Amino acid sequence: MKTVVITGVTRGLGRAMTEEFIRLGHVVFGCGRSEKGIGELRRRFGKSHRFDRVDVASDEQVQAWAKRLLESRRAPDLLLNNAGVINRNAPLWKVSSEEFGQVIDVNIKGVANVIRHFIPLMIERGSGVVVNFSSGWGRSADAEVAPYCATKWAIEGLTEALAQELPAGVTAMALNPGVINTDMLQSCFGRSASAYQSAQQWARKAVPFLLELGPRHNGQSLSVS
Ligand SMILES: NC(=O)c1ccc[n+]([C@@H]2O[C@H](COP(=O)([O-])OP(=O)(O)OC[C@H]3O[C@@H](n4cnc5c(N)ncnc54)[C@H](OP(=O)(O)O)[C@@H]3O)[C@@H](O)[C@H]2O)c1
Repeated sequence: MKTVVITGVTRGLGRAMTEEFIRLGHVVFGCGRSEKGIGELRRRFGKSHRFDRVDVASDEQVQAWAKRLLESRRAPDLLLNNAGVINRNAPLWKVSSEEFGQVIDVNIKGVANVIRHFIPLMIERGSGVVVNFSSGWGRSADAEVAPYCATKWAIEGLTEALAQELPAGVTAMALNPGVINTDMLQSCFGRSASAYQSAQQWARKAVPFLLELGPRHNGQSLSVS
């Protein structure tokens, strides 16, 4: 039984992974911003698992969240930096400074906040796997999603550097999950998103793949195929 920390559990891939890890007998600590989404998860799974309203872009909120895990005397076996946002489709010069900032704050600074406060627990115990969610757009690019591409390319570099810093036993890798029909995909693909796999179908393949990750994958750029 593993302790799995997942950011962005209220919808999409995070929600589907939460259900699949729980189905396989693992313990999930999850976060998201939506009150309704976190309330639903608490009602359904609240007894043995824990769900908190946390905005990963807030270093203070992430610090308080990590403290709660420490109080339960657990360190993450798997830390999944899944929470993310995408800009509304637009050429870069039409993206406001505010929207650009939000994408950076969640997709890059949010990941760093979670690593800052959770990795010390893993280092202390001497084991654990950190998976930073990247994208096909972290390794290639397309028009109208420049802010998102910039953050996912950043995640690839951040993860490679982090992997070189970690002590033996603690590992980090970047993961391109593939193309999955979620709110995020509908935002950038429109109606054609419905031609792609559902988050539930994806989670059935992805969760066993994630459970197999270990030291031999340190620093790698992986994909769920
Ligand atoms: N779907 C795809 O095809 C695809 C492809 C490549 C990469 N990815 C990556 O996979 C990850 C999941 O994507 P998805 O498609 O599942 O997206 P999604 O359906 O839009 O869900 C995003 C999740 O992240 C949470 N979130 C967003 N901002 C947050 C914040 N500041 N703090 C805490 N939680 C936050 C959202 O919950 P709240 O709104 O409640 O906070 C939601 O639960 C992302 O990193 C994305 O870039 C997805």
